[in-house]
Amino acid sequence: MRDGLEGAIVERLSAVDIFAPLTSEETAMLAQAASSHVFAPGETVIRAGDPGSSMFVVHNGRVSVQLSENGRPVTVATLSDGAFFGEMALFTGEPRTASIVAIEETEVLEIGHAAMKRVFENNPDLVESLSHIIAERRQALAATREISGSEHDESAGIISSIKRFFGMK
Ligand code: CMP
Repeated sequence: MRDGLEGAIVERLSAVDIFAPLTSEETAMLAQAASSHVFAPGETVIRAGDPGSSMFVVHNGRVSVQLSENGRPVTVATLSDGAFFGEMALFTGEPRTASIVAIEETEVLEIGHAAMKRVFENNPDLVESLSHIIAERRQALAATREISGSEHDESAGIISSIKRFFGMK
């Protein structure tokens, strides 16, 4: 990757809240491992139910998080610059929970399992903050499906599932 582009990617990744605790070396490692993809409006980035072993950061643009209810797309959330998605399947090994569709032309940065595993090994606290985000997102999905859940009760299960998936103690 060229220097200017990589600088912009480092800057983007350092502005992502879950990556805030990382050292500049770790952020640079993530930037090197990231691959950039551009999607046109209406294009699908992630399809619900597919397997997934990477997560994404929105570099520029906007995507919608969609569920299909009776064959119709229902928007659960909208994510823009600096937001991330795809962490659920990556960290739990479960299928993609929702579809992600570009609302406008959108550039995303894809980060794979190996790079995230290295980050986790050096930052075990990150597992806990991610588990809270995943629990919140699951609740919003459940609310959209009109099923209720408890964020607190779910966190412990998510933490162990993330640790198991990455072979951590
Ligand atoms: P994953 O299940 O891998 O693929 C679909 C992604 O949609 C999921 O990871 C989350 O990153 C994202 N997602 C699911 N629910 C929500 C939500 N309520 N708010 C924001 N993003 C969500």
